[in-house]
Amino acid sequence: MRLSAFGEKFAGQSGIVELMDDLGVALNENPEAIFMGGGNPAHIPEADALFKRHLQTILDSPTARHSMLGIYQSPQGDLEFRTEMAAYLKRHYGWPLSAANISVCNGSQSAFFLIANLLAGHMPDGSHRRLHLPLSPEYLGYRDAGLSRDFFSATRPEIEHLDNKQFKYHVDFSQLSIDDDVAALCVSRPTNPTGNVLTDAEVQQLDAIARERNVPLLIDGAYGQPFPNILFSSAQPLWNNNVILALSLSKLGLPGARTGIIVSSEEFARALSNANTIASLACGTLGPAIGKRLLRDDAIDALSNDIIRPFYQARAEHCVTELRRLLGQTLPYHIHRPEGAFFLWLWFEGLPIPSRELYQRLKQRGVLVVPGEPFFIGVDETWRHQNECIRVSYSQEASKVQRGFEIIAKEVQQAYDTG
Ligand SMILES: Cc1ncc(COP(=O)(O)O)c(C=O)c1O
Repeated sequence: MRLSAFGEKFAGQSGIVELMDDLGVALNENPEAIFMGGGNPAHIPEADALFKRHLQTILDSPTARHSMLGIYQSPQGDLEFRTEMAAYLKRHYGWPLSAANISVCNGSQSAFFLIANLLAGHMPDGSHRRLHLPLSPEYLGYRDAGLSRDFFSATRPEIEHLDNKQFKYHVDFSQLSIDDDVAALCVSRPTNPTGNVLTDAEVQQLDAIARERNVPLLIDGAYGQPFPNILFSSAQPLWNNNVILALSLSKLGLPGARTGIIVSSEEFARALSNANTIASLACGTLGPAIGKRLLRDDAIDALSNDIIRPFYQARAEHCVTELRRLLGQTLPYHIHRPEGAFFLWLWFEGLPIPSRELYQRLKQRGVLVVPGEPFFIGVDETWRHQNECIRVSYSQEASKVQRGFEIIAKEVQQAYDTG
């Protein structure tokens, strides 16, 4: 088989594909493995019951059922859903939106692929532009999204040390230089993998820089505001005509519905919708069908704030306490302050083995985590910190998570003891 340049890049083995394959194989070979690697949301029975109720109402109505199963939606997505979404965001935040600002895609991952390549890569004038990550480590799913090589640039974070062996990354504005080849700034908030929530001041400053440089600010709110609102600290969401805000129904508990929602200028929404038509023809209808019912009476707020967020917040607090107990007083570890999402980002300072080796050792012991290094997208490879971190999800069954932490603590201790 002769592959195109596109084929070679996307069908070939990238680091991330290998890692994901490895995790998948490990789980197949050992179904008992403790899976702390993926971004799957937890199974929360109250959320499940709510989705079931709405789905049943749709199935019981011949018109709603046919609309969900038997009709291609318009390229930009179900108009009623987009209208409800615009009205909801306007009601909550006063943003001047209409359905024309909202685009639906088959998951925010596929939306990101289109957005990234609409903005960056080879330009019509022969130049090349990149997406800039003002704070890397960032979401692994961005890493290979560019159609051209050398797609990302990034700024290393500033590290603030906090009490109780915690730390927090900040955007290092003193090092943030936006060259002429930057096409857009991109952040996830809360951040996957670290659980960081960029402060309001940071986001406002990024917004000001983006506007000054006349490039969009892309904010990935997959875990954030207004839904599923997995934030444990207070923060203001931001949108204006220069912001492309990506939302998703996945972390609410509907990853199977593959629904990404992009809030942007009307001009960008039209561009995205045209690209999405070429790539997907139309969007799935399941997410919008459930979503509009959740939006109508703001039921999505109760789901997010009374069910989803408290679930993860309780988990985060419990896990930090347990982990601290298990890792003891002497190991030079740091935990990124969990401010949102559902991961703990652990930094083992001076770890004698690279985090990939730690990942392999943990896999041998039946615990699957993700090594930190691939998250440092666009960062110079000589920074030792990149090899000292792992990401651990705490969304799975509590007893398994507990067992996983016990094994991680032992393995890390051994790594420090023997290298
Ligand atoms: C930060 C972030 N953005 C986007 C996505 C993609 O989500 P989806 O395509 O399910 O909407 C994920 C999934 O894990 C994520 O963690």
